[in-house]
Amino acid sequence: MTLAPAHDELVENLIEAMTWEQKLAQLQIAFRPRLEDAAELVRSGIGAVFWPRSAEATNELQRIAREETPHGIPLLVGLDVIHGQRTTFPVPLAQAASFQPETAETDARISAQEAASGGVNWTFSPMIDVSRDPRWGRVVEGFGEDAYVNAVFGAAKVRGYQGESLRDRDSILACAKHFVAYGQAEGGRDYNTVDVSAQRLRNVYLEPFRLAVDAGVATVMAAFNTVSGRPAHANHFLLTAILKEELGFNGVVVGDAEGVVNLLDHGIAEDLPDALRQSFAAGLDVEMGGNVLTADGGARLRPDDVPLARVDDAVRRVLSLKLALGLFDDPYREPDLEVTAPSRASRQVALTAAEKGLVLLKNESVLPLGPERKRVLLVGPYANSTDHLGAWVQSFAAPAGSLADAIRQECPEWSLAVKEGTGFFEGDASLIADAVADAAGYDAVVVAVGEPSALTGEASSRSDLRLPGAQEELIRAVAETGRPMAVVMFNGRPLVTSAWVNSVPAVLEAWHAGLEGPRAVARALSGSMNPGGRLPMTFPRSSSQVPIYYDHENTGRPATVSGTIDGGTLDVALMGPGNTDDHYTSKYKDLDLGPQFPFGHGLSYTSFEYGGLKVSAPEVSVADLRAGKSVGVEITVRNTGARAGDEVTMVFIRDLIASLAQPIRRLRGFTRTSLQPGEARSLYFELGWNDLGFWDNDGRYVVEDGDFEIHVGGGLDGTAVGELRVRP
Ligand code: GLC
Repeated sequence: MTLAPAHDELVENLIEAMTWEQKLAQLQIAFRPRLEDAAELVRSGIGAVFWPRSAEATNELQRIAREETPHGIPLLVGLDVIHGQRTTFPVPLAQAASFQPETAETDARISAQEAASGGVNWTFSPMIDVSRDPRWGRVVEGFGEDAYVNAVFGAAKVRGYQGESLRDRDSILACAKHFVAYGQAEGGRDYNTVDVSAQRLRNVYLEPFRLAVDAGVATVMAAFNTVSGRPAHANHFLLTAILKEELGFNGVVVGDAEGVVNLLDHGIAEDLPDALRQSFAAGLDVEMGGNVLTADGGARLRPDDVPLARVDDAVRRVLSLKLALGLFDDPYREPDLEVTAPSRASRQVALTAAEKGLVLLKNESVLPLGPERKRVLLVGPYANSTDHLGAWVQSFAAPAGSLADAIRQECPEWSLAVKEGTGFFEGDASLIADAVADAAGYDAVVVAVGEPSALTGEASSRSDLRLPGAQEELIRAVAETGRPMAVVMFNGRPLVTSAWVNSVPAVLEAWHAGLEGPRAVARALSGSMNPGGRLPMTFPRSSSQVPIYYDHENTGRPATVSGTIDGGTLDVALMGPGNTDDHYTSKYKDLDLGPQFPFGHGLSYTSFEYGGLKVSAPEVSVADLRAGKSVGVEITVRNTGARAGDEVTMVFIRDLIASLAQPIRRLRGFTRTSLQPGEARSLYFELGWNDLGFWDNDGRYVVEDGDFEIHVGGGLDGTAVGELRVRP
């Protein structure tokens, strides 16, 4: 769906008839506390407001806009519907762990239905900021460290929110954010400086936005950060030259909350009028904050501050979206049809989504515990916690239950004892002795740990990526009892597990998995379902081993080891020069090489084998690729275990020689396959022009001739390797 600013007669007539102030009023969205007197704001002609929390209240504001303003222009009504409205789905990072874009598209579809029923017609989602630094709290909102995964999941969410047509009653405007490279904030510290090369800007951070625009995303939100010295909100190169002109985006560019006001602190604007002038001139279309007009309706921009054509273009974009949504025909919603609670069906979809995102990080014959009768001890702060919805959840979302209650519901044969020790978040180690006192009397111990969702999301960067409080001590104390045990983690970012992971036999990554997260975990623990998710972000060995990511350059002095990578951890000597074959190589002297758990890592209760890798041609020319020819890659995967399971198959390439140093692996395709025991499936992928090239520092996309490796398998390692030569 490509949105063309409709040179529609209605739109053009309105532009013709509107005063300067009336045009500016359309180019802002207000949020609390300015919404205290929302009715007055709407009478002043404002173009958009944040959702006033019900269909009834929205209808009243729409009525005022239609009947009590000079031109009767209806309102855009926005809200952060990031991973659910009434039914909360797993956080986006957990959705990425499913490696199944349908998971995200379904979330967006149901979220749009629920939100639209209340009068919302614009969500500020998907967030598609690639990030390689788990210190940054907003990694929870995106789809991880890989540009391709963010691009595929972002486009899926756009489709889910916007549906077949924006005129459909269940469709709402999507918003790809934050444009751009917000995820590369220095130090992982939110809002911090971003300085990035042209090639990395394009190959990593712009790629998801390119696909979102191709998917027809209606709006894009500017990022708070500078990009190479110029704040995104006032960056003409980004907002106009790249986004609007090069990518052909013809929807609305909206600022982030007070992002225009922040230009003063950035030190690039003298005052608010100057900030507004620079932003609109750069290509911003709507200011988020309600600062364009003064409280008494005066314009903070004079007609000669910004070319009239630019303001008219922005108004045209806004009115075109209102037209596309059908708001001029009917902006109202039936209050008695408003969805105010999850349905049985939406809960089931949320359960499936939560199950798909579970990642079995480690399992030495402990899981699944099995449904049959047994005594289980559940300890840790997440035993009774209901903090599963994650970041960016509205106060009116249905609350989640606890893991303890979910186990009682899903594992009725188990005799469950719970010792949650809520003090573990606060570091109260005194509770540990009690928590493990009678562990010996249980068949298994489940340790439910994690990070509170309040430590994730916006303005929530962490310098220490370990489990907060005394949770690590709790895990080690349980491990010392020698009882069969499993650790379940509920978190919104990759965490450092090095202090305990080698002492425990089983670890399940559950994330903040949403409304039905606890049930999903209980079903995984008992074996009612078999986890099949994979890590969309690398788990570092230490908080200082960041940024860390799989698609890194090789460097001129790569540190390599003779050891093998087994299950995501390197079994090589620690510390000192013993951890590499060569002293003068890129490494930390006091840390094992490589991550704790790599991107794409994830185990299963069954096993899979690959065979029969075929590449359709040993070589292909650049010209043929440019003309649209692609190379086929085929492989067979078989479930060699005793139970059904899902396998995620990934296709990576490595461009061995190029004019710019290339990543040692680049994900170019993935698919998730459900297989019964013994079942085999032949999988087929294609590699074409858009898969084999890269953007250079002159802003050109190039496919260079040379040799490529094609790695296909269940993750980064143990892959089958094919070869392809690209001829000049
Ligand atoms: C926040 C976030 C942005 C969100 C906006 C509106 O500051 O940066 O993602 O959509 O404000 O809530």
